[in-house]
Formats: sequence, C-alpha cells, structure tokens
Amino acid sequence: MTIYDLLHKDHEEISKLLNKLENSSEGAIKTRENTFSKLKNELTAHSEAEQQTFYTALKNNEKTHELILEGIQEHELVSHLLEELDSMNKGTEDWKAKLSVLRENVEHHVDEEENELFEHARQVLSDDQAQQIARQFKEQKQQSMANA
Ligand SMILES: [Fe+2]
Ligand SMILES: [Fe+2]
Repeated sequence: MTIYDLLHKDHEEISKLLNKLENSSEGAIKTRENTFSKLKNELTAHSEAEQQTFYTALKNNEKTHELILEGIQEHELVSHLLEELDSMNKGTEDWKAKLSVLRENVEHHVDEEENELFEHARQVLSDDQAQQIARQFKEQKQQSMANA
C-alpha cells in the first residue's frame, strides 16, 4: 500500500468515527465516551505519524513548504479541540457544538491534504521514497498508539 492509500484509509476511519459521534445520543453517554476516546487516539496517532514522516519529507521542498506549515498549524488546532472535548462533560449541547467545530476543521484539513498536498507530493517524492515513508508511517503510528 502506498503512503497515499494508507493516509486515505485513516482519513476514512476518522470520518466514520466522527459520523458515529454526531449520531450518538446524550442518553448513551458511555458509548459516546468510548467512541470519543477511540477517535482521539486514532486522530492523535495519525497526525503525529503523518507529521513525523510524510510532512518531514515534504517540508523543505518549495512546492510543498507552505502547505506543510499550514497543515502543522491545523494539526495543533485539532489537537487543542480534542483536549477540550476530552475534559468536557460529554452529555451537553456545548459538547455537541464543539464536536461540530472539530468535524469542520478535520474535514477542511483532510480535504486540503487529499486534494492539494497529495498532488504536489507525488511530484516531489519518488516511488521508492513514498514506499519508504509508508513503512516509516506504519511504525511511527504503532508507536504513537502504544504510548497513548
Ligand atoms: Fe492526514
Ligand atoms: Fe493531517
């Protein structure tokens, strides 16, 4: 699997978890807490591994430099929102409202990665490099998951 397929697969998993949370009810608070904890682990490990492998390989190329800097800021924003959501009571309207803000930010971010960054990355990285990054990404993500 290429790094592009791997990242896309994660993005789909993240979107599924966000859907599940948006459709969850205040009454089923345990389910909501469990699903949120899964989302937080998955999203955090994804962003960390993505940044340490894929982004690092693209950061110093002029074709991708600006997109990478923007992506890093978006990762920080998403991480901040995840921390806030984690510490709030998950049975409230405010929590649901903040979850919508998280979702909008994640969707925007994923859209830019898949529709702009991937395209530029394909011009910057050789097939060999992309394969190596895929291996590094898998390893790094496993490590991040284990440390969560
Ligand atoms: Fe991503
Ligand atoms: Fe990302």
